[in-house]
Amino acid sequence: MIEQVWEKARRNLKRIVLPEGEEARTVQAAALVRAEGLAVPVLLGSPDRIHRTAEETGTDLGGIDLIDPAASPRAAAYAELLFDLRKAKGLTREDADRLSADPMYFGMLMVKAGDADGLVSGAVHTTGDMLRPALQIIKTRPGIHIVSSSFLMNCSNPQLGENGLLVYADCVVVPCPTAEELAQIAVSAADTARVLCGIQEPRVAMLSFSTKGSAKHALVDKVRQATEIAHTLAPDLLLDGEMQFDAALVPEVGRSKAPGSPVAGRANVLIFPDLQSGNIGYKITQRIGGAECYAVLQGLASPCNDLSRGCSVQDIVNTVALTAVQAAG
Ligand code: ACO
Repeated sequence: MIEQVWEKARRNLKRIVLPEGEEARTVQAAALVRAEGLAVPVLLGSPDRIHRTAEETGTDLGGIDLIDPAASPRAAAYAELLFDLRKAKGLTREDADRLSADPMYFGMLMVKAGDADGLVSGAVHTTGDMLRPALQIIKTRPGIHIVSSSFLMNCSNPQLGENGLLVYADCVVVPCPTAEELAQIAVSAADTARVLCGIQEPRVAMLSFSTKGSAKHALVDKVRQATEIAHTLAPDLLLDGEMQFDAALVPEVGRSKAPGSPVAGRANVLIFPDLQSGNIGYKITQRIGGAECYAVLQGLASPCNDLSRGCSVQDIVNTVALTAVQAAG
């Protein structure tokens, strides 16, 4: 899957900003991205410190844009943009000047202003540090009110999902989605499956501990309601629920528990009912099931993606490629 993502990224070069530009893995990843022709990387930070990191890691910075937020000619315009976006929420002009010089905010403002196509960070910052400015500045894409995540799970068993590929959502962002939010997460995840995984026919299962009324509980009702809302949001999408994990994935179980369902037993997109189940579910698939996984945020007006602080250089390169493909749409 990731090879296909690299190929797509190469066909439509996008400018991806890396706010943690002084960090060693990020500097090495930018050089690899440039060498592989996956995107045009932009490193933010003090050029002296970036050059020092490059020397220490034996990295060639040729062809990579370095921008110092503290000395950028765009600083005043970005501060103004931030002030305009957040003044109604109580942000003062002084706060806007100070925050816009912070590389994370500066990077988000570059994307908002159209000076970059996407952003990748998280080798140093936490998920929340990156998500909050993304939610405040980039905001959601038209028609979507909730930002969420999809995990692309590459399983060794080709019988599962789409030749072993499964899309899980949401595993990072929305702790307790409402039925409306869950429906939007499902629609966004189907879109991610199409754009990033090349899945022509997303088949979306709305997961629960119940299949088609086998259990009665308010939590089950929420998933049923989300299923109905998702049908109205995307009438042509193959989506069904509520159903259990095995009913979604195993053909015999799907046939017996949800006969006639267009999704049961052959789902390739799995929507978890809340963040606890989604986050635990992807980690079980990764750690016990041995699946490779790649995470992306979805629903933002322009793509911004988060890394794990334990990420490798290769993880950063892959996330930049995924971000570039999202930006190409
Ligand atoms: N989609 C769209 N907008 C949102 C969302 C969302 N999911 N969540 C919050 N917002 C908006 C709010 O409406 C608000 O907008 P406004 O300021 O313009 O009115 C703004 O974003 C900030 O919202 P807050 O409520 O102040 O932000 P909060 O402190 O709740 O943080 C966050 C939001 C960071 C997404 C929070 O929900 C969170 O911490 N989620 C879990 C993240 C996490 O730790 N994940 C697990 C680990 S990651 C892993 O395992 C790979």
